Amino acid sequence: MTVCRDCCCGSRVKHPAVDHAAQVDRLRELLPAAHRVRTSLCLDVCAQSNVMVVQPARTARRQGARPVWFGLVLDDAIVTDIADWVRAGGPGVAGLPATLALSVIPAPAAAGER
Ligand code: FES
Repeated sequence: MTVCRDCCCGSRVKHPAVDHAAQVDRLRELLPAAHRVRTSLCLDVCAQSNVMVVQPARTARRQGARPVWFGLVLDDAIVTDIADWVRAGGPGVAGLPATLALSVIPAPAAAGER
C-alpha cells in the first residue's frame, strides 16, 4: 500500500494532532512483510490528507480489482481498519467494511472525469 507523505499528508502544520510517523510504523507493524508499505510524494488530493492507497494483489488486479483510495486518515482506528482489510485480502477479495467505506475517496483521475 501507499501512504502519501508530502506537503499536506504527514504535515504537522496541517494536522498537528496526528503522529504521522506512528501511522506508518503501525501499518508496517500490522501488515505482514508481503504487504509492502511505501510512502510517496503528493498524490494530488491534498484536501483529503492524509491519503492512503491500497493496491490489489496481483491475482485480484488481473480479475479487475482496482486500487482503493482513502482520505482523511487521521485516526488510529481507521489505520487499524485499513490494515485489517488488507490482511483480509483487500480490493477484489475482501468486502469493504461499511465504516471503512466512509473513508473512500475517488482516485484523482476518476475525480477529474466528473
Ligand atoms: S500531500 Fe498527500 S495528496 Fe498532497
